[in-house]
Amino acid sequence: MSRSVRIAPSLLAADFARLGEEVHAIEAAGADWLHLDIMDGHFVPNISFGPSLVRALRRHCTLPFDVHLMIAPADPYLAAFAEAGAHVISLHPEAGPHLHRSLQTVRGLGCKAGVVLNPATPVSALENVLDLLDLVLVMTVNPGFGGQSFLTSQLPKIEALRRMIDASGRDIALEIDGGVTDQTAPLCLAAGADTLVAGTAVFGKPDYAAAIAALRPQATEGGGGETLRRPE
Ligand code: DX5
Ligand code: ZN
Repeated sequence: MSRSVRIAPSLLAADFARLGEEVHAIEAAGADWLHLDIMDGHFVPNISFGPSLVRALRRHCTLPFDVHLMIAPADPYLAAFAEAGAHVISLHPEAGPHLHRSLQTVRGLGCKAGVVLNPATPVSALENVLDLLDLVLVMTVNPGFGGQSFLTSQLPKIEALRRMIDASGRDIALEIDGGVTDQTAPLCLAAGADTLVAGTAVFGKPDYAAAIAALRPQATEGGGGETLRRPE
């Protein structure tokens, strides 16, 4: 089945001394979303940046901002990221005691709501919040750092989520994060993903447009290949 594919480069792998230029370049290169990894040095063993940087980048980029919160607690900061210009805000279930309430808050702030599943977090964590979800983000590495190797053990989880989403009849994006390359992207897409985060596989390459194109489904020779349709 042909499915449109969204590419969300992760700013974590960009040159932090030239972020304004980097987001201009990634938008010009054909990215669909900009993935923003927020790390607090507590929920994950690394520190990245916060809402003030997100707000500053908002003036340099028209792409939807895909905010991945790796902070605990997350609730006190949801409004700040919404006001900074987030389109999607995704939370880990382990980051707070009331996931359902947190997702309600995100939607109440006018953002799309996502849940992130760590490699050890089961699909069942979503069963009772599907009605509040716009996106599921599957971690194919343990969160905290870019440049790690893709965990193929997570492919059956992506397949299970695709079945769960299709059975729900809801419009829920299925996004993959961690170790996505031109080698692993086809595995994700075959398992049912529609959105791919990529840090080093895009910002680590000299030609961002070519790197993004390499992650999209490749048309087969002689026609009959998948339609390469850019999502909204
Ligand atoms: C990891 C982050 C990822 C990371 C991906 O905690 O959530 O978004 O930036 O980086 P790569 O694509 O290099 O694995
Ligand atoms: Zn991420």
